Amino acid sequence: AFVITDLCIGVKDASCVEVCPVDCIHSTDDAEQYYIDPDVCIDCGACQPECPVSAIYEADEVPEEYRAAIERNAAFFRK
Ligand code: F3S
Repeated sequence: AFVITDLCIGVKDASCVEVCPVDCIHSTDDAEQYYIDPDVCIDCGACQPECPVSAIYEADEVPEEYRAAIERNAAFFRK
Protein backbone atom coordinates (compact mmCIF):
# COMPACT_ATOMS: atom_id res chain seq x y z
CA ALA A 1 0.00 0.00 0.00
CA PHE A 2 0.96 3.62 -0.33
CA VAL A 3 1.61 5.62 2.85
CA ILE A 4 1.16 9.31 3.69
CA THR A 5 4.15 10.58 5.64
CA ASP A 6 4.84 13.44 8.05
CA LEU A 7 5.21 15.83 5.13
CA CYS A 8 1.39 16.02 5.02
CA ILE A 9 1.21 17.32 8.59
CA GLY A 10 -0.19 20.81 8.67
CA VAL A 11 -0.62 20.82 4.88
CA LYS A 12 -3.57 18.46 4.29
CA ASP A 13 -3.82 19.58 0.69
CA ALA A 14 -6.27 16.76 -0.10
CA SER A 15 -5.54 16.66 -3.84
CA CYS A 16 -4.74 13.00 -3.30
CA VAL A 17 -8.26 12.31 -2.03
CA GLU A 18 -9.81 13.55 -5.27
CA VAL A 19 -7.97 11.07 -7.47
CA CYS A 20 -8.20 7.92 -5.35
CA PRO A 21 -10.41 5.44 -7.25
CA VAL A 22 -11.22 3.40 -4.13
CA ASP A 23 -11.74 6.29 -1.67
CA CYS A 24 -9.13 4.96 0.77
CA ILE A 25 -7.67 8.33 1.86
CA HIS A 26 -9.25 9.89 4.94
CA SER A 27 -8.74 12.32 7.81
CA THR A 28 -10.72 14.19 10.43
CA ASP A 29 -10.75 17.88 11.39
CA ASP A 30 -8.63 17.17 14.46
CA ALA A 31 -6.17 14.80 12.75
CA GLU A 32 -2.94 16.48 11.75
CA GLN A 33 -2.65 14.69 8.40
CA TYR A 34 -4.49 12.46 5.92
CA TYR A 35 -4.01 8.69 5.98
CA ILE A 36 -4.28 5.82 3.48
CA ASP A 37 -6.14 2.68 4.53
CA PRO A 38 -3.68 -0.14 3.73
CA ASP A 39 -6.50 -2.68 3.57
CA VAL A 40 -8.32 -0.76 0.85
CA CYS A 41 -5.46 0.79 -1.17
CA ILE A 42 -5.02 -1.03 -4.49
CA ASP A 43 -1.49 0.32 -5.11
CA CYS A 44 -2.55 2.22 -8.22
CA GLY A 45 -0.24 5.14 -7.44
CA ALA A 46 -2.67 7.80 -8.68
CA CYS A 47 -2.31 9.86 -5.50
CA GLN A 48 1.47 10.08 -5.46
CA PRO A 49 2.05 12.68 -8.21
CA GLU A 50 -0.88 14.80 -6.99
CA CYS A 51 0.66 15.74 -3.66
CA PRO A 52 2.26 19.22 -3.82
CA VAL A 53 4.68 18.37 -1.00
CA SER A 54 5.51 14.80 -2.14
CA ALA A 55 4.26 13.29 1.12
CA ILE A 56 3.17 9.96 -0.41
CA TYR A 57 5.41 6.90 -0.80
CA GLU A 58 5.03 3.20 -1.55
CA ALA A 59 5.46 1.43 1.81
CA ASP A 60 8.73 -0.14 0.63
CA GLU A 61 10.12 3.26 -0.29
CA VAL A 62 9.24 5.37 2.74
CA PRO A 63 12.40 7.23 3.83
CA GLU A 64 13.92 6.07 7.12
CA GLU A 65 12.89 9.22 9.02
CA TYR A 66 9.24 8.68 8.12
CA ARG A 67 8.97 4.91 8.70
CA ALA A 68 6.70 5.44 11.73
CA ALA A 69 4.07 6.80 9.36
CA ILE A 70 3.41 3.28 8.02
CA GLU A 71 1.94 2.16 11.34
CA ARG A 72 0.26 5.55 11.87
CA ASN A 73 -1.67 5.19 8.59
CA ALA A 74 -2.84 1.68 9.50
CA ALA A 75 -3.71 2.65 13.09
CA PHE A 76 -5.99 5.48 11.97
CA PHE A 77 -8.37 2.95 10.43
CA ARG A 78 -8.44 0.70 13.50
CA LYS A 79 -10.04 3.42 15.64
FE1 F3S B 1 -1.52 15.40 2.36
FE2 F3S B 1 -0.41 15.67 0.02
FE3 F3S B 1 -2.72 14.44 0.25
S1 F3S B 1 -0.43 17.19 1.63
S2 F3S B 1 -3.69 15.37 1.99
S3 F3S B 1 -0.79 13.76 1.10
S4 F3S B 1 -2.12 15.79 -1.41
